[in-house]
Amino acid sequence: MSDQPIIRRRQVKTGISDERVNNAKTQSQYQPYKDAAWGFINHWYPALFSEELKEDEVEGIQICGIPIALRRVDGKIYALKDQCLHRGVRLSEKPMCFNKKTISCWYHGFTFDLEDGNLSTIVANPDDKLIGTTGITSYPVQEVAGMIFVFVREDDFPLDEVPPLADDLPFRFPENSERFPHPLWPASPSLLDENAIALGMHRTGYGNWRIACENGFDNAHILVHKDNSIVHVNEWVLPLGILPASDDCITVVEDEKGPKGMMQWLFTDKWQPVLENEELGLKVDGVNGRFYRTSVVLPGVLMVENWPGEHMVQYEWYVPVTDDVHEYWEVIVRVCNTPEELEKHKYRFDRVYKPLALHGFNDCDIYAREAMQNFYADGSGWDDEQLVATDISPITWRKLSSRWNRGIAKPGRGVDGAVKDTSLRFKRTADGIGPQYKVIKIVEE
Ligand code: FES
Ligand SMILES: [Fe+2]
Repeated sequence: MSDQPIIRRRQVKTGISDERVNNAKTQSQYQPYKDAAWGFINHWYPALFSEELKEDEVEGIQICGIPIALRRVDGKIYALKDQCLHRGVRLSEKPMCFNKKTISCWYHGFTFDLEDGNLSTIVANPDDKLIGTTGITSYPVQEVAGMIFVFVREDDFPLDEVPPLADDLPFRFPENSERFPHPLWPASPSLLDENAIALGMHRTGYGNWRIACENGFDNAHILVHKDNSIVHVNEWVLPLGILPASDDCITVVEDEKGPKGMMQWLFTDKWQPVLENEELGLKVDGVNGRFYRTSVVLPGVLMVENWPGEHMVQYEWYVPVTDDVHEYWEVIVRVCNTPEELEKHKYRFDRVYKPLALHGFNDCDIYAREAMQNFYADGSGWDDEQLVATDISPITWRKLSSRWNRGIAKPGRGVDGAVKDTSLRFKRTADGIGPQYKVIKIVEE
């Protein structure tokens, strides 16, 4: 270690107190975050869209370095650790289910109860003394608005202490309308509202989940969206950036019950939109105000209210898969009370929001996140970055998530991506298959 101060930066005059400066003392307040390369464990994460798991199907995914197999039986979804306790293969690679209650390992037949993961029999060793004495971890599952959520827990996290899904979802309205008034747009819908529908997509992001997450609510990064079609076709006024103008520009929410996170008071006098940089001759044109507001809650869920249109909200998750791969979820939530409304919304989603917002606009976020990855890959980026006033947002997030996460995920063991230089990985790369979120099923000729 050198005795140099960790961060050297210029002083900024924006009304932000010295408390906000990212010095060694500040950094020590978010050491748990710096340690969370594999994610925060013991939280709810999206696993699949409902339509990705049809009746009797089995899919394998990986979250926070934990392999998870999902199976739907009679509509209900079960989730078990996707790692056979015999010799460690993934059950989902070649799903083998002889009844509605169990899943069997395709290799030597260890058979697990879907409800609790207990070893209920072994195909060719039905009297073995191991039966009934051991098992694999099971994970609570909840399906809402077309999405499947899994509570990704440590093996010994007690099932009776699993918090409600609502604790790991964005702030809800109208119950928070008084606390976070929103005069510029209607109350934002929530995934948990009646008749809410989640339309969206998820894709694999190459980079650490924290880099991706911080990009979502970074008020200077909107520069990357300067040339996006959706902005220009709508003649939106999208600022070059938004500067904090007061110490209370962010409210940290740490209520005993409910989500822990932060709300940014965008488009109030607590933040100053930057519309011009004289030195560079840059000026924002556009005639239509596009007001939105970003907030983030644990374990890393972004909410963009009033985006990409009225009466809707965009949620994003950056689900850790390994320490350098995450699954990027982009979901638009809207309440559709009639089949006609739903059909109209789906039509617009397919033709406008998906191509222009979730792709076009958010594709820029993806390349920006990938461009940061090498700087942070070995962990030294957290010490070498030199932050400015707008970075109050990630700093506040790092501190609050360090305080309120329910556990730091350990590096994955025996899972894809934990060891990066295996011959298996090279073989897949040579076959044109990069790191993936979903398990690739074994194909028999
Ligand atoms: S590895 Fe699963 S039964 Fe042997
Ligand atoms: Fe963005």
